Amino acid sequence: MSGRLQGKSALITGAARGIGRVFAEAYVREGAVVAIGDINLDAAMKTAAEIGPSAYAVSLDVTNQSSIEAAIKVVEQKTGGLDILVNNAALFDLAPIVEISRASYDKLFAVNVAGTLFTLQAAARAMIARGKGGRIINMASQAGRRGEALVAVYCATKAAVISLTQSAGLDLIKHGINVNAIAPGVVEGEHWEHVDELFARYENRPRGEKKRLVGEAVPFGRMGTAEDLVGMAIFLAGPESQYVVAQTYNVDGGNWMS
Ligand SMILES: NC(=O)c1ccc[n+]([C@@H]2O[C@H](COP(=O)([O-])OP(=O)(O)OC[C@H]3O[C@@H](n4cnc5c(N)ncnc54)[C@H](O)[C@@H]3O)[C@@H](O)[C@H]2O)c1
Repeated sequence: MSGRLQGKSALITGAARGIGRVFAEAYVREGAVVAIGDINLDAAMKTAAEIGPSAYAVSLDVTNQSSIEAAIKVVEQKTGGLDILVNNAALFDLAPIVEISRASYDKLFAVNVAGTLFTLQAAARAMIARGKGGRIINMASQAGRRGEALVAVYCATKAAVISLTQSAGLDLIKHGINVNAIAPGVVEGEHWEHVDELFARYENRPRGEKKRLVGEAVPFGRMGTAEDLVGMAIFLAGPESQYVVAQTYNVDGGNWMS
């Protein structure tokens, strides 16, 4: 199937690399025009150029209200209005409870929670003013389903994303805006290189060991890839999910069940 997002305008936050980039490629394949919103504008411009003429870069820091509003304005000016927002930008950190710093806590909550809420809010305001509804997809995580030693802050931010998805989903459906979320398990990419490095330090392991072990523990038999999430990302952005409201879907090779 193709063309499911024909003529749609999407903004994906944190799409310069990783999962967001792969979603941008998939949305373009399905006919959308996609804004690559990222705090790293150079990387966003490079990614957009590599994807092609249906992608463009937008400078966006999801912790900054005027940056969020400016990015939504750019999308409206370029495409006539925003149909789809993917709240994908996030940071990860790791520390035992007794070593968590307030700076790390503040940074993760600013990007992962406040960034998600206020980008969602700005998108919803634009969608309501336009009167055509829309789709908002938040990136949660298996980390939001349960706490984990060493990962307290990131887990708490992703639990908050699941909760915000429920509240925003219930509030915004009256405007024809569907808010849902995807909870991936462990996904290959540059992000996991950083995660593996942190686990190596705190669990005193050789580099690469944690990544190998978490991959082996997935019931499906391997780590996920961003491509494994694309089907859900298209479904939640497209016409077939009209009656899906306030849900968070696990796409994790069975990891959360195991
Ligand atoms: N990779 C995994 O294993 C995994 C698992 C579960 C959930 N997730 C979630 O999926 C999403 C994407 O993960 P990923 O692995 O592709 O991440 P990533 O670290 O590869 O990419 C994150 C992107 O966000 C951008 N960014 C950071 N701060 C920003 C800010 N303030 N404003 C705008 N952009 C900002 C970065 O520049 C980067 O391009 C995240 O929400 C993550 O929590 C990832």
